[in-house]
Amino acid sequence: MQPPAEPGPSAAETVTTSPIAAALIEWAKRHGRHDLPWQLERTPYRVWVSEIMLQQTQVSTALSYYRRFMQRLPSVADLAAAALDEVLHLWSGLGYYARARHLHEAAQRIMSDYDGELPSDPEQLMQLPGIGRSTAAAIVALAHGQRATILDGNVKRVMARLFAVDGTAGTAATEQRLWSCAECCTPHAEVAAYTQAIMDLGSLVCTRSRPACAPCPLRTRCLAYQTGRTQELPRPRARARLPLRRAVLLLVMRDDGAVLLQRRSNRGVWAGLWTPPEFTDLAQAREFCARELISPEIDAAPRPPLHQRFTHFEFELTPLRTRCAGLRPQVCEARATLWYDVRATAPSGPPIGLPAPIARLLRSIERDEVLVLAAAGS
Ligand code: ADE
Repeated sequence: MQPPAEPGPSAAETVTTSPIAAALIEWAKRHGRHDLPWQLERTPYRVWVSEIMLQQTQVSTALSYYRRFMQRLPSVADLAAAALDEVLHLWSGLGYYARARHLHEAAQRIMSDYDGELPSDPEQLMQLPGIGRSTAAAIVALAHGQRATILDGNVKRVMARLFAVDGTAGTAATEQRLWSCAECCTPHAEVAAYTQAIMDLGSLVCTRSRPACAPCPLRTRCLAYQTGRTQELPRPRARARLPLRRAVLLLVMRDDGAVLLQRRSNRGVWAGLWTPPEFTDLAQAREFCARELISPEIDAAPRPPLHQRFTHFEFELTPLRTRCAGLRPQVCEARATLWYDVRATAPSGPPIGLPAPIARLLRSIERDEVLVLAAAGS
């Protein structure tokens, strides 16, 4: 198939079933994924949760989280009725926690506005928090077999290579062109099979670096392959240096070994999660100790900083440890606080959301180890 002429495919191309889809569906019968938990018992709710989890998480990582999530929250009604703390707890370690907050809020909207049934209209789905154009399409295609076009990160890479789209990733013109290509490939029948197949091809074969072109079912149609450009396409966007944010993390340890945690506000990358109190500098942290703690004994020097990369900034967190006998009783903290027993491991610990690097930090102070840091986005 020729790449669609800009700005979109011809009418003839969109009405016929694409040969690309046919080749993909055939390939997926033998090489695609068939027994993932959201495929085996395919309900709109289960597909929705899986699609949100898989937005920034690989299938292999998502599996255990998904099973635990479904065990505890098997329906929209259960999710809507759960405490946000519990939803964040089930998400702890997956990163990108806005996904969990959005799932929870969307479930409540589905209960109040749609009688507990996920809408099957992509436009309505897109009105719910956390559901964009591609996710809405994936939900209706996989759960209902409705014709809808997906374009997630993996599919963008497949399209960019297949049709040699060489505009810079992320620009409006390139995005529009990729959507046209994806639209052109979407068949009118077997949409669910096609949708799963193109996602599988993107993650298993047409990988970012060193794509496995030899077994690729689209090799003979792939313009990047034919012109030796699979390594240079898709053309990555120029990466700006991320701004650096610094903070001091105060590890307040009570004599019984419990560590003070505060629930973060509803803003920021760790919104609603629990972390040790955070300050802009050491002076502020020491002031807090003097004001709020009983008999604080602050370490003379902070520990080596941790670095955490987020999408829009890099976070440098300097841990400062202090021991104390407790919080002063007259202190009336606006934030929720709790004493967390670092020896308690899930599921016996309190069901709260803990960012993965913070959970690691708490475990390492219990073992009194040098701190090690974490993958991006945790
Ligand atoms: N990525 C996004 N959705 C997916 C799915 N259903 N299967 C595999 N990878 C995916």
